[in-house]
Amino acid sequence: MRGITATMLRFILLLLFFASFGEGFWRMPCTNFPGLYRIDPLVYPGVPSEHAHSYHGGSNFGFDTTYEDLMASPCTSCDVAQDKSAYWIPGLYFKFPNGTVIAVRQVGGLVAYYDMYPATGPRNIVAFPAGFKMLAGDTYERDFKWQVPEPEKSLWTGAEATEAALRQKALGFNCLHYGPTSNEATTVRHFLPPRSLLDTCKDGLRLEIVFPSCWNGKDLDSPDHKSHVAYSSLVLDGTCPEGFPIRLPTLLYESIWAIEEFTGVEGKFLLSNGDETGLGLHGDFISGWKPEFLQSAIDHPLCGDPRNSGEIKDCPLFTIQDGDKCQKFTPPSQIMAENCMGPMGSLCGGKSLEKGGNVATSHVQVTVTVTSTYHDCAAAPTSRHVHHKMHDF
Ligand SMILES: *[C@@H]1O[C@H](CO)[C@@H](O)[C@H](O)[C@H]1NC(C)=O
Repeated sequence: MRGITATMLRFILLLLFFASFGEGFWRMPCTNFPGLYRIDPLVYPGVPSEHAHSYHGGSNFGFDTTYEDLMASPCTSCDVAQDKSAYWIPGLYFKFPNGTVIAVRQVGGLVAYYDMYPATGPRNIVAFPAGFKMLAGDTYERDFKWQVPEPEKSLWTGAEATEAALRQKALGFNCLHYGPTSNEATTVRHFLPPRSLLDTCKDGLRLEIVFPSCWNGKDLDSPDHKSHVAYSSLVLDGTCPEGFPIRLPTLLYESIWAIEEFTGVEGKFLLSNGDETGLGLHGDFISGWKPEFLQSAIDHPLCGDPRNSGEIKDCPLFTIQDGDKCQKFTPPSQIMAENCMGPMGSLCGGKSLEKGGNVATSHVQVTVTVTSTYHDCAAAPTSRHVHHKMHDF
């Protein structure tokens, strides 16, 4: 055995076990739930955002956050010290018949998967460049024009294969029930299922958002924060469309919400943007990696390679830390006193509660009078012990 290091041996074993797997990935746990705040430096730079978000990542986060700000973050709430990225999503709420809304308890924070596609054939995945940002999903979407249930991926042709369709197929609402009956695969349902089904999700509802992984190779951002990137032909796997030749890591956000605490309770689930359909689910990302470092992780046999385990601890490049020890970002003074957890008479930001159907109209910025007292979101129940199951394709 002399001359063979433990790492080499582990590598050889992994090679033997996983040689047939085509997809490499790691899962970035950001287990802390800081609360819900109206911050969105991508879509509402400089001002409170229209609706509240759950934020995870580099602690230098606020209304005007830039790549440089994130990189200067003293810490990150994710479990790898080198990742100062900003990850944020809308919150999930429950509305009682009397109109009172309350945030659904979020369990285990957010997990950001870094999936390496395509699964087969030559792979040339490029790290997010410095200053790269993007948005997945559309907060105003309320319509689903595509086939339900979804056709087999091999039948995704014509309208089903358009960017508009792929963008909606990138969302998932996964009814969790751990135990003998297996859970659904990732991104099978693309909007909120009916209440009759939600009431069977004894381990919560997992919100899933896949980001576009094909880049035009030029723009770090675009006016709609989407048109500089595109989905690959099968959302996760597949090929990039013309004009988007650069393959990035495929980001997938997962977050679990304890909807089982409302089983049998009269009322409705809705997102923080007022959407009762789920079609307006979205996710935002500002990269907070040094590109050379991220590239080395993507290319490392024990990190982004198909032979790896997906566990960040198995990537020798990563400095593993406890993200919970990173003091949460400080909300800007304008929203410091705002309570977005509820119970409250209307959604945080004064957003009207919308019904489903068609496409929501764009809303102008609303002026909000803060009436509630500051709710210490750090006291919100969280758990470090929730195991996000590996997603299943
Ligand atoms: C509305 O109903 C819920 C559930 O019964 C209750 O907790 C809440 O206090 C009510 N809100 C008001 C304003 O009465």
